[in-house]
Amino acid sequence: MAVLIVINIGTLVGMHPEGTWALKGTELCDLPRLENAWLLSHDDIISGFGSMDKLPEHFVNVKTIDAKGGFVFPSWCDSHTHIVFAASREEEFAMKIAGKSYEEIAAAGGGILNSARKLQLASEEELFESASLRLQDMIMQGTGAVEIKSGYGLTTESELKMLRVIRRLKESSPVMIRASFLAAHAYPPEYKNNHHGYIKLITEEMLPKIADEGLADYMDVFCEKGFFSVDETDQLLQEAAKYDLAPKIHANQLSISGGVEVGIKNLAISVDHLEATDEQVIANLINTNTIATLLPSCSFYLNIPYANARGLIQADIPVAIASDYNPGSTPSGNMNFVVSLACLKLKMQPEEAINAATINGAAAMELSEQMGSLQLYKKASYFVTRPMPSLAFLPYSFGQSQITTVVLNGEIQ
Ligand code: NIG
Ligand code: FE
Repeated sequence: MAVLIVINIGTLVGMHPEGTWALKGTELCDLPRLENAWLLSHDDIISGFGSMDKLPEHFVNVKTIDAKGGFVFPSWCDSHTHIVFAASREEEFAMKIAGKSYEEIAAAGGGILNSARKLQLASEEELFESASLRLQDMIMQGTGAVEIKSGYGLTTESELKMLRVIRRLKESSPVMIRASFLAAHAYPPEYKNNHHGYIKLITEEMLPKIADEGLADYMDVFCEKGFFSVDETDQLLQEAAKYDLAPKIHANQLSISGGVEVGIKNLAISVDHLEATDEQVIANLINTNTIATLLPSCSFYLNIPYANARGLIQADIPVAIASDYNPGSTPSGNMNFVVSLACLKLKMQPEEAINAATINGAAAMELSEQMGSLQLYKKASYFVTRPMPSLAFLPYSFGQSQITTVVLNGEIQ
């Protein structure tokens, strides 16, 4: 059995009590900490932690990481990404700088359809290689669990290809991975005037095949003006439910689309984006089990409004934050930056942002029993930082990595 102990931890962070699901309201500020601590794992599982004053003697000869006074955080749980793609889109970056909006770029042949054309030409192997490199970067930036979406295939063959790549990543990576099926990301050009035909293709051809191969955990739809309407989203989510695929959906990114409400109606695990959100949308989320997943680096990159995190937190709605890593609206999967932006732009306190990126992110992937906090019997997935003057130093020192060591499943990466 592989035993690993971290000693001389300046501050051990995030030992939420067993059974903690998503934190909401004032609880979101509760971030348990222990100073001058040790953390022990057996194989991939946390088997103990405590104060250095009481370091059990029989652990002195095991494999040891000396944290030298640094912090230890539970791995980031990034519950919304699109990291399987064939090519970057920095030509759109130039258009954006020149003042074109996301919608204008899409209308000019950029956007999701641009990524789909390129992905359709790429081999499964190429996609697997490039996504593995992105995942490796995310690992070294502290991420230990990721949700990955399809949605750049838009044909049966290419959607299956994307989902098979995600399955290979699941099998080969130490990161815990969840897959979402997002064929309803955009209408392919040949279905532009035949929405019914594409929905039929998704529900009658793609969904049965995906279910048959067990390729997806969730169903996603881009519910937005010019993409999928509320009625179309409803129909898709109801069909997906027949295959036990719960919704995690794109809602209210560019406008108040009705996506939140149709998500709630279909018992969505999470409704994501919410950059356009009014009081009514917040009221509708109250007393549901749906998590609001906010993506501040998307707002940053597209220069669109930031979600009303404070309004959601005040209304006792569980808030998670995620990267949205994709080639069009967020070409970065750095959760440290997401946490900094959550503080600076969503006005979340450091404790709130860290909880939203760990325990609440885990809940948004239904991984609360294994990830999101440092607790006995959970995965030994965490990162060690340099010594820092305080917890707030992590988001405060934006853009500068504080991470010195990454451990996933009890193994140093
Ligand atoms: O979450 N909004 C839909 N999907 C992505 C962007 C997709 C793209 O531009 O390639 C998002 O922002
Ligand atoms: Fe997204």
